[in-house]
Formats: sequence, C-alpha cells, structure tokens
Amino acid sequence: MTAPEVHHLNHPLIQHKLTLMREKDRSTSSFRRLMHEVSMLMAYEVTRGMPTHLVEIETPLEKTMAPMIDGKKIALVAILRAGVGFLDGMLEVVPSARVGHIGLYRDPKTLVAVEYYFKMPQEMHDRDAIVLDPMLATGNSAVAAVERLKETRPKSIRFVCLLAAPEGLRNFHAHHPDVPVYTAAVDRELNDHGYIVPGLGDAGDRIFGTK
Ligand code: URA
Repeated sequence: MTAPEVHHLNHPLIQHKLTLMREKDRSTSSFRRLMHEVSMLMAYEVTRGMPTHLVEIETPLEKTMAPMIDGKKIALVAILRAGVGFLDGMLEVVPSARVGHIGLYRDPKTLVAVEYYFKMPQEMHDRDAIVLDPMLATGNSAVAAVERLKETRPKSIRFVCLLAAPEGLRNFHAHHPDVPVYTAAVDRELNDHGYIVPGLGDAGDRIFGTK
C-alpha cells in the first residue's frame, strides 16, 4: 500500500499570508481578506493534478485544440462553519465549481460527530470533491465528513486545510489513507482544549468575527 499523501503547500506567498493570519491582533476584516487570498493560492495548488480535456477554439489566427479543466465537475465541499471561509477565494479561481455543505457537531456526552446538515450537488460519481475545513485538529469531524461524503461515491476526494495537527493527520489517514491532505502547515500539537498550537485560534470566530 502506498503511504497516505500529505501535501505541504510551502509557496512563499501562502506562508507569508498564513503568518499574518496567525497574529492575534489582526482585525476580522484583514483576517477575512487574507483567508480569501490564501484560498485562491491554495486552489491553484490543489487543482494542479486535475485532468484537462482538449477543446477546439479559434484564436485571431487559426483554429486550435487547447486544454480546459472542467470546473463544473469539481465539487467544493465546505464543512460548516469554518470551511465556508475557503469558498469565496476558491470559487474565484474555479467559478463553475459546484458547492456542497456538511454540518456536524460533537455530542458532548459521547464525543461522536453528529450530522445536522448534508447537501451535495447531484451526480457526485462524476465529480472530483475538494473538502474544505481550515483546521485539521483532532480530525474527528473530518473523518466523519469524508465517511459521509464517500457514500455519494465521488470520482476523487481531496482534503484541504490551512493548519493540521500531527494527531489530526494521523487520525484522518488511519481512517482515510486514500484521501490526500493539502495543508499550508503542520503545527506542533493539540493542546488540552483541542486547539492547534501555535495555531491561529478559533478559525470560525476569526473569519466571522464572533468573538
Ligand atoms: N478549530 C479551530 O478553529 N482552531 C483550532 O485550533 C482547532 C480547531
């Protein structure tokens, strides 16, 4: 069996913007704008290996065959709520992509992920799914979301996060060794409250200004 894939997106622009996002005094509007910019850059990296097909076009000089990516065949799947922060930037780069949402919460007694919302585009068997969640912390909600998504039998699945904890990566790939993870950084560890450290805090709160 081949080792699970972890793609560290170490492009200097992504790293620079991530550093700015980590700063605790950064305003909500600035954090949101950086999230938008970093999402565009990450979309560029995540779609790198996607298949293209040749279409006939006419340049001012002649007819030619030229490659196109079939954007409608891409499904961006946001895990609520912080995953929504990835959408605008990614849709700017892949405007025809379809969008799905998965809502999960953790039952405080059993700690099991419970689904409260699940809406995918039709014909997922024909689509390449890109699952979005900025923080791969324990990995439990990512594991549950991908498990549920697999029931729709997408052509392929990729998982994208800004930050991953080593524990979360191990948990995720123990359950889904077939799903490559794209992350801007793998941080040191999870703290006792389940936060990634050094991290950037609560991604949802920072994107939506709820704290
Ligand atoms: N979710 C967040 O938003 N931040 C973390 O550090 C961990 C989980």
